[in-house]
Amino acid sequence: MIPQSFIQDLLARVDIVEVIERYLPLKKSGANYFACCPFHGEKSPSFSVSPSKQFYHCFGCGAHGSALGFLMAYSGLSFVEAVKTLAASVGMQVPDDGRFPARAAENTHEHLVDVMTRAARFYREQLKQHPPAIDYLKRRGLSGEIAARYGLGYAPRQGLDKIFADYRAPALAEAGLVIDTEEGRRYDRFRDRIMFPILDRRGRIIAFGGRVLDKGEPKYLNSPETPLFEKGRELYGLYQAHKAIRDAGFVLVVEGYMDVLALAQFGIDNAVAALGTATTPHHIHTLLRLTDRIVFCFDGDAAGRKAAWRALENALESLRDDATLAFLFLPEKHDPDSFVRAEGAEAFRHGARTATPLGTFLIDTLRAQCDMDTAEGRARFVHAARPLVTRIGAAPLLRLQLVKAVAENSALTQHEVEQVFGAAQPPAGPSAYPAVPGVSPVVRRAPRLPGGRRKPPSKTDMLLRLILHHPHWAARLPVGLIPDDCPEGRALISIVDATSVGDLNPDCGIGALIERFRDTEHAETLARAASEPIEAEFDESIVETLFEDALRALHTDAIAAEIAQLTASAAAGRLDAAGRQRLAALLMEKRNLANTAKVSDF
Ligand code: UTP
Ligand code: MN
Repeated sequence: MIPQSFIQDLLARVDIVEVIERYLPLKKSGANYFACCPFHGEKSPSFSVSPSKQFYHCFGCGAHGSALGFLMAYSGLSFVEAVKTLAASVGMQVPDDGRFPARAAENTHEHLVDVMTRAARFYREQLKQHPPAIDYLKRRGLSGEIAARYGLGYAPRQGLDKIFADYRAPALAEAGLVIDTEEGRRYDRFRDRIMFPILDRRGRIIAFGGRVLDKGEPKYLNSPETPLFEKGRELYGLYQAHKAIRDAGFVLVVEGYMDVLALAQFGIDNAVAALGTATTPHHIHTLLRLTDRIVFCFDGDAAGRKAAWRALENALESLRDDATLAFLFLPEKHDPDSFVRAEGAEAFRHGARTATPLGTFLIDTLRAQCDMDTAEGRARFVHAARPLVTRIGAAPLLRLQLVKAVAENSALTQHEVEQVFGAAQPPAGPSAYPAVPGVSPVVRRAPRLPGGRRKPPSKTDMLLRLILHHPHWAARLPVGLIPDDCPEGRALISIVDATSVGDLNPDCGIGALIERFRDTEHAETLARAASEPIEAEFDESIVETLFEDALRALHTDAIAAEIAQLTASAAAGRLDAAGRQRLAALLMEKRNLANTAKVSDF
């Protein structure tokens, strides 16, 4: 756990404009900076960065957040990774609260990364001195440029003992670079193989894949799971593909190292590969933080279809209505590598554009497995669809479409299908994906009414938006009058509480405020409120008036509620003298308040 106070100090130290400028060209206009939004395609800049609020906000898609939030959304870093990256950029040391020995773990990690980096350098140099390995790569159609971009190397039969003075050091085994025999001998794990370094999202080498030159078993040898490397979390090529995924607006998921390299060789730079495992929910979650379209590309054979189906099953819980997953099936006997060489990049791109959407793939596959001409077959179809469709918890519209498709295919009504499915419905919630600490969906779109109009804010909602942008006004809020029967009200109360006990600097910008409530019950509410900035956000005089109106409304509501209560007591004959006096005073106050014209009405 990183202490909250550190995060607040860190955000006070960095400048969001400088942080974002490292990734996007920003243009100043008035008090703020603008760019084309990196989170959705657009031609005119609606992505704004406010230095005074230390906050970015896109008026187009609603993406928003602090400098930390930007790093997470843009680079796909986890919260802790983003904190570390940001802290390193201003020379701050991330403390831990002593609950677990983070520092020690971090030191081992750094040491292991260092060991891997030195090994990779050695393998790269060896490649230059080993013509058969270079020939192999050339025969596979890879240029020196691609080999360099992906850091390819060659592991000789034995060699790490030449570069590690202490070849017996435990770290070499821990990093998975050597194998210890029962007799206590140690030798290099990777021998006479082409080496593919596997990088994490920060570009650090955490594992290797090694391919035999030509024939031999196993064809690919991978690093074992180590403290640095958890197979189900990493994707080969993600670090290099990062920018291309943004530019292309989608990511391609392929099966092999060589597929990624061959596609890159043909200028298709947005491909990644799972590392000899099925695509996991974690992979999908990671990718959906970078892009809203994933195209899985599998071989055209039975194994490919099976892998595609596993990917589908693993994706169901992570589906969102604003994301699409699609499947590109290559002709039999082709993998992406051979296909792009045979048919060219344009044919491949066309395939990616016209890939089969997940819903179609799901329905078609199930149909093919059932005899749709018989009642029994159709029942089987519905039965098979149920556990799949009901797992789509976070994409209600897609779920509805599939329910309809199931109904049409099975000669049932939509209502009947819903009833059959109902019993197995997953708990409703914004995301059925198991919570990953510090991970939140990148772009939350504001709620819209049918037809695309935004929902008008409630009074409390408006007040919350105003406080978000002006945390120092929290001190002016009469906390007893804030209704606690809605999430906005409860969030407001927590903000007022935090400022009054000195837990939140009232001069902090909205960025720091949002970070203060990350991973709390208010995070969602605040994100929603922040994604809907107030009109005329930057016109301070209007905003001040809006705030006073909202305060007045708070009083009016409280008075009205108390009047209603006292009147009810009076009607029941239970109002004493003090109560009657109070009621009269309230009625008077209500008249006075009504007579003060609202400035914002003019
Ligand atoms: P493939 O056998 O399809 O290999 O395995 P490929 O990528 O087409 O490789 P080339 O073209 O023959 O060189 C796909 C992926 O499965 C994993 C690797 O990640 C590989 O890229 N794999 C395969 C292994 O981990 N071990 C193996 O022995 C084989
Ligand atoms: Mn291949």
